[in-house]
Amino acid sequence: MIGASLLLSAMAVSATNLFVSDYSGHITTLNLSEKNGSYSLEKTHSNEGCAPNPSWLTIDPSRGLLYCMNEGLTSPNGSLASFIINTNGSLKTIQNTTTPNGPVSGVLYGEPAGQRGIALAHYGGSAVSTWLVRENGTFVKNEDFFYYLDQPGPVPDRQDAPHEHEALTDPTGKYILVPDLGADVVRVFSWDVENLKLKELDSLKAKAGSGPRHAAFYTPSSLAGSTTYFYLVAELASTVTGYAVTYLPNNGGLSFTELSVQPTTGPYTLHRINAPAEIHVSPDNRFLLISNRNDSSFSLPQPNGTVIPSDSLSTFSLCPDSGNITFHQLWAAGGSFPRHFSLSATGNLVAVGLQNDQRVVVLERDVASGLIGEPVARIGVQGNVTNVVWDQVRGLGGLGE
Ligand SMILES: *[C@@H]1O[C@H](CO)[C@@H](O)[C@H](O)[C@H]1NC(C)=O
Ligand SMILES: *[C@@H]1O[C@H](CO)[C@@H](O)[C@H](O)[C@H]1NC(C)=O
Ligand SMILES: *[C@@H]1O[C@H](CO)[C@@H](O)[C@H](O)[C@H]1NC(C)=O
Ligand SMILES: *[C@@H]1O[C@H](CO)[C@@H](O)[C@H](O)[C@H]1NC(C)=O
Ligand SMILES: *[C@@H]1O[C@H](CO)[C@@H](O)[C@H](O)[C@H]1NC(C)=O
Ligand SMILES: *[C@@H]1O[C@H](CO)[C@@H](O)[C@H](O)[C@H]1NC(C)=O
Ligand SMILES: *[C@@H]1O[C@H](CO)[C@@H](O)[C@H](O)[C@H]1NC(C)=O
Ligand SMILES: *[C@@H]1O[C@H](CO)[C@@H](O)[C@H](O)[C@H]1NC(C)=O
Ligand SMILES: *[C@@H]1O[C@H](CO)[C@@H](O)[C@H](O)[C@H]1NC(C)=O
Ligand SMILES: *[C@@H]1O[C@H](CO)[C@@H](O)[C@H](O)[C@H]1NC(C)=O
Repeated sequence: MIGASLLLSAMAVSATNLFVSDYSGHITTLNLSEKNGSYSLEKTHSNEGCAPNPSWLTIDPSRGLLYCMNEGLTSPNGSLASFIINTNGSLKTIQNTTTPNGPVSGVLYGEPAGQRGIALAHYGGSAVSTWLVRENGTFVKNEDFFYYLDQPGPVPDRQDAPHEHEALTDPTGKYILVPDLGADVVRVFSWDVENLKLKELDSLKAKAGSGPRHAAFYTPSSLAGSTTYFYLVAELASTVTGYAVTYLPNNGGLSFTELSVQPTTGPYTLHRINAPAEIHVSPDNRFLLISNRNDSSFSLPQPNGTVIPSDSLSTFSLCPDSGNITFHQLWAAGGSFPRHFSLSATGNLVAVGLQNDQRVVVLERDVASGLIGEPVARIGVQGNVTNVVWDQVRGLGGLGE
C-alpha cells in the first residue's frame, strides 16, 4: 500500500499557465506541466486582442484580469487592452483603446480596496499616461504627460527624444517611478488618493548617455526604519547602479544616494554591445537577476544537435546591511535577446522571453543557492517575444505558485 501511494504521488501532474506576448500580434497561453521531474510546455490558446504589436503584460491577480499594451510599431498610436483570464487559461477581450504612441510597460496603482489605476510608460510617444480601471476591467483615460528634450542626449541615435521605458511602484505603493532612456532620468511621481492624478517630484538623474531602462526595489526587512535600495539597469551604458533610498517627509519624494560598488565585469564591460533589459529581485529577497541581450556569452547545444549563440542572465547576491551587490553567476539565457523574464512564485523556475529567437525557455533554479540551471522546457511562438508572465491567478496545482 505504501508503495502504491508513493507511486501515485510521484506520478502526480502539476501544471500552471504562462502568458506570452509577441510583436506579431499574439498573446499565447502556455501550459507548463511537470510529471515525475519531467516538464512539458504546450500552447493551449492564442489571442489577437492586443494586435498588432503586444509589448507588455500586466496581471491583476485579485481581479483575474490581464492588461496588454500594443506598442503600435508602425502606427501613430498604440493601445491598451484588457482581458478576463478564463479558468482554462484563455483570454476574453473586455476593451481595446487608443493611447499615445509606443506603450511598453504598465503598472497598477491606487488603493487596493478603492479606486485603482494603471500607469503606462510610452517609449515612442515620450509620455506617461494614466487610466482609471474598474473592477470589471473596463478603463477610462485619466491623464497624459508628454516630455520633450531641448537637444538630443549624448547617444543621439537613441536619445533623440525622451523615451519612457518602464512604470513601476515603490515598495510602499505611494510612488510611481519611470526610467527614461532618452533623457537619462528616472521620473518620480506621487498620486492623489481622490482621483489618482499624478504629481511629478524631483527625478533621479542618471549618468549622461547611460539610457535608464528598467529598475527594481529591494527592502531587506519590513521593520520600520529599514533602508530601501533601488537598482537601475542602463541599456546604453550596460550598467547596473545601486542607490540607497530615503523617503522625504509629507510624501514629498525620494532621495537617492549612489552605492559605491557597481559590477564592472563580464557583460557590464560591453558598452553599446550588451543591452541589459529586465531586472528582478528573487522571491526570497536574496538575489538580483538581470537579463543581458546581445552579449553572446555562451554557445548552447540544442536537443536537435545544433549549437546556438546565447545571451545571458546574471545573478548578484544582495547584502542586507549595505545594499551592496556581489557577482554570483553568469549563465546562458537559452538563446538570443532575453528581453524579458519572470521567476515563478517560489523562484524555482525562470521563464525567459527570447525576442530574436521567437521562443520561450524555462530554466530550473536552485532557490537555496540562487544558481540557475539547465533548460527544462522550450517552445517557439509566432513572433518576437516581448514579455512572459506566470499566471498569478490560478496555478493549477502546484507549479509556479
Ligand atoms: C521517475 O523518474 C526517475 C528519475 O528520472 C526514473 O528513474 C523513474 O523511472 C521515473 N518513473 C517513472 C514511472 O517514469
Ligand atoms: C486596438 O486599438 C488600436 C488603436 O486604436 C488599433 O490599432 C488596433 O487594431 C486595435 N486592436 C484590436 C485587436 O482591435
Ligand atoms: C496542462 O497539461 C496537463 C498535462 O498534460 C493537463 O493535465 C492539464 O489539464 C492541462 N491544463 C490546461 C489548463 O490545459
Ligand atoms: C475556455 O473557457 C471559455 C470560457 O469559459 C470558453 O468560452 C472556451 O470555449 C474554453 N475553451 C476551450 C478550448 O475549452
Ligand atoms: C496618438 O498619439 C499621439 C502621439 O503620441 C498623441 O499626441 C495623441 O494624443 C494620441 N491619441 C490618443 C487618443 O491617445
Ligand atoms: C463595467 O462597469 C461599469 C461601471 O460600473 C459599467 O458602466 C459598465 O457597463 C461595465 N461594463 C462591462 C463590460 O461590464
Ligand atoms: C550588438 O553587438 C554588435 C557588436 O557585436 C553591435 O554592432 C550592435 O550594435 C549591437 N546591437 C545592439 C542592439 O546593441
Ligand atoms: C535546431 O534547433 C534550433 C533551436 O531550437 C533551431 O533554431 C534550428 O532551426 C533547429 N535546426 C534544425 C536543423 O532543425
Ligand atoms: C559595501 O561596499 C562599500 C564599498 O566597497 C564598502 O565600503 C562597504 O564596507 C560594503 N558594506 C558591506 C556591509 O559589505
Ligand atoms: C525580430 O527578430 C529578428 C531576429 O529573429 C530581428 O532581426 C528583428 O530586429 C526583430 N524585430 C523586432 C521588432 O523585435
